[in-house]
Amino acid sequence: MALTYGEYLKLDALLTQQQVMSDPEEHDELLFIVIHQVYELWFKLTLHEFDKLCADLTAGRLFGAISTLQRVRTIMKTLVGQLDILETMTPMSFNSFRDRLETSSGFQSAQFREFEFALGNKRREMMKPAAADAEGVRRIEKRLHAKSLVDHFYDFLETLGVQIPAELKNKPVTEPTRADERIQDEILKLYRTRPDVAILLELMTDFDEGLQEWRYRHVKLVERTIGNKQGTGGSLGVEFLKRSLFQPVFPDLWAVRHRL
Ligand code: HEM
Repeated sequence: MALTYGEYLKLDALLTQQQVMSDPEEHDELLFIVIHQVYELWFKLTLHEFDKLCADLTAGRLFGAISTLQRVRTIMKTLVGQLDILETMTPMSFNSFRDRLETSSGFQSAQFREFEFALGNKRREMMKPAAADAEGVRRIEKRLHAKSLVDHFYDFLETLGVQIPAELKNKPVTEPTRADERIQDEILKLYRTRPDVAILLELMTDFDEGLQEWRYRHVKLVERTIGNKQGTGGSLGVEFLKRSLFQPVFPDLWAVRHRL
């Protein structure tokens, strides 16, 4: 028998995973579940793309890195745009099933934490919310102990003849990215002399801006939906989320903008 569309995509399994908890069923709960599942699928793909991007950067494959960054940048913009759909749900509607979420929260998303760690935003304490997800913790740990995208970016700079300061090269991989003026000077030189590399640097900036946009749009979504209530994950909610606004994952790229 020839393979069918449904078999190939495992649609039987996929389309039975949207199980609402409200009883009687609240209309908007399905939207809430679908949108979170869609985000998790995009996170999965993005992590897969990051692995390729890291390999391309270390091998000095500029065009491979550019094409993958074009893809992840576009996914990031899509992740931002999708919040519009959830904003069609009113606070009253969300309240009708919010209790059913109990203590579950996006805070516990292991893939989101993997995503942050892969980029170099490594904070061990952020593993705690995912603690109940043993397989998720294993994957986050793996990302914690692997080189970040920024470490691979340094490898790429080396393929272009840039000398990476020893403190950055020998920095334990479990530590977060550090901004460094010497790297900024080298980035500036590349902007001036290598228009091909400048395309990569601009795409990285686009991606970073997209992630910051997502954080901003998520805070506003949360504010308009639950105001100053605590999060189901136990944080202060909006106040907690505001702390990560405007924090770049590629600080060196932002630090040179006024010198370009
Ligand atoms: C009505 C919709 C939503 C509300 C009210 C909401 C609320 C919150 C709150 C209050 C937090 C802080 C942690 C806590 O105490 O729970 C949080 C974190 C988080 N949410 Fe949402 N959220 C919503 C939709 C989404 C969607 C669609 C996603 C997509 C994946 C998402 C992903 C996350 C992530 C990844 C975090 C952790 C952020 C971080 O640690 O920096 N949320 N959310």
